[in-house]
Amino acid sequence: MSERTFVMVKPDGVQRGLIGEIISRFETRGLKLAGAKFMQIDEDLAHEHYGEHEDKPFFDDLVEFITAGPVMAMVWEGQDATRQVRRMMGETDPADSAPGTIRGDFGLDLGRNVIHGSDHEDEGANEREIALFFDEDELVDYDRIDAEWLYE
Ligand code: RTP
Ligand code: MG
Repeated sequence: MSERTFVMVKPDGVQRGLIGEIISRFETRGLKLAGAKFMQIDEDLAHEHYGEHEDKPFFDDLVEFITAGPVMAMVWEGQDATRQVRRMMGETDPADSAPGTIRGDFGLDLGRNVIHGSDHEDEGANEREIALFFDEDELVDYDRIDAEWLYE
């Protein structure tokens, strides 16, 4: 089923010049870009976005990291998009991520893992995160010209 998911190149990925490479992977996979925003996350948004981790010992470091520089926030759309993006990202810790995944190709350290994607095991996380970062009129509805060659 076609769905939208929230994806973000984190401050380390932006500073390391990986935005284009990461977008390219999703594009060539066949996912469709529905929205994009290059932005700085403030403290409040960081707390909301990572609210589920508020009680964890790494929370303060996580907020400091995600607000340390600009991020590339995006919405990608396609069949099973949330789960497929997570598979392309690899594991939370780049050290456990297979080569060929984004974290496995571009990261080494748990606290510098380059990319965020909505959790596919957390029902509705994709919609919640999209709404947190984007207004409805910032998302674009259109067809990719190759859609009939991407889907049976
Ligand atoms: P994210 O939300 O950032 O896409 O990462 P994730 O779903 O793969 O992992 P999650 O469990 O949601 O953790 C959020 C971020 O917190 C940092 N973390 N540190 N020190 C630790 O034990 C620890 N565990 C998680 C990671 O940077 C992770 O991306
Ligand atoms: Mg997460």
